[in-house]
Amino acid sequence: MKVTIVGAGNVGATCADVISYREIASEVVLVDIKEGFAEGKAMDIMQCATTTVFNTQVTGTTGDYSKTAGSDVVVITSGIPRKPGMTREELIGINAGIVKSVAENILVHSPEAIIVVVSNPMDTMTYLTLKATGLPKNRVIGMGGALDSSRFKYFLSKALDKPSNDVQGMVIGGHGDTTMIPLTRLASYNGAPVSNYLSQEELDKVAASTMVGGATLTGLLGTSAWYAPGASVAYLVDSILNNQKRMIACSVFLEGEYGQEDICMGVPCIIGRNGVEEIIDVKLNDTEKAAFAKSAEAVRAMNADLKS
Ligand code: NAI
Repeated sequence: MKVTIVGAGNVGATCADVISYREIASEVVLVDIKEGFAEGKAMDIMQCATTTVFNTQVTGTTGDYSKTAGSDVVVITSGIPRKPGMTREELIGINAGIVKSVAENILVHSPEAIIVVVSNPMDTMTYLTLKATGLPKNRVIGMGGALDSSRFKYFLSKALDKPSNDVQGMVIGGHGDTTMIPLTRLASYNGAPVSNYLSQEELDKVAASTMVGGATLTGLLGTSAWYAPGASVAYLVDSILNNQKRMIACSVFLEGEYGQEDICMGVPCIIGRNGVEEIIDVKLNDTEKAAFAKSAEAVRAMNADLKS
C-alpha cells in the first residue's frame, strides 16, 4: 500500500513518521517544493527504522510526481500559513492555487487515489479539490473532525479525570474556532452520558476549550500544532488503507445530508477502502441543528472567497 504526502512540513512529516512506525502503509513518498527538504525528512525518518523497528519505506522528492505513481492515498498538507497583513481572501487564493495544482499533478500518476485534504481553510480546500478534479465524492475527504474530536476527548478526559481511551465524543461542522460543534450531549464515558458526571457549566467549558484548542497551541508554540494533526491524518489513512470502517468526523460533500448541499463540512462518516463508505445521520436536536446551519453559513462565506 502506497501513500503520498504532499508538503513535508510539520504536519506532513509527522504523519509520515506515524504511518511508518505503525506500518500503516508499505511505502510513503514525501513531496515538497523546498529543494532537498522532503528527501531530508524521509532520510531522517528512515534512520529510525532499526530503533523503532519498522519496514515501511519512506522516500522524498522535490516535486517529481512520477515518484508518487500508483499511490492508494494522497494527503495534501502543502500550503502557507497566513502572514501578517495578509487578508483571508489572499490566503485562500494562494492556498487554492497550491492545492489545485497539487491535486492535478497527483491524478496524472495516481488516477485511482483517494485524496485527503489537510491544508487550511480545510473545508474550502476540500470543496475546491472536489470541484477542480471532478472526482466522485467518496474519494475526496477533508481531515479536521478527527483532530477536533481527539482534542474534545482530551478536554473531556481532563474534566472527568479519567483516561481518554474510555471517553467517546465527536466534533462536527466546519473546521474552525467558531464553526466547529463539539457534541457534548452525545459524549460518553464508558458508555454513560458525560452529563452523568459533569455539570452543564463544566461541559460548556470543555466545548469552549475544544473550539480554541488549535489557537491555544499556536499561542504556546508560536506556530500551529503538528503531533495531533499528523497522528489524526495517519488514523484516517489507516482506516482507508486497512478498511477499518472507523466512524470519523470528516469534511465531505453534502447533498442534502444535515440539511445542506453543495458544501463540504464535517459529519460522521464510515471510512474504509472506498474512502467515504457512508455518511451517518446522527439525530441532532434543534440547538445542534441551528449550530450546524450557522456553521454552514460561515463555510459558504469562505467558499465564496474562492470565486472572487
Ligand atoms: P508547514 O509550513 O510546516 O508545511 C507546509 C509545507 O508545504 C512546506 O514544507 C512547504 O514547502 C510545502 N509546500 C508549499 N507549497 C507546496 C507545493 N506547491 N508543493 C509541495 N509542497 C509545498 O505547515 P504545516 O504546519 O505542516 O501545515 C500544513 C497545512 O495544514 C497548513 O495549511 C495548515 O494550516 C494545515 N493544518 C490543517 C489542520 C487540519 O486539521 N486540517 C491541522 C494543522 C494544520
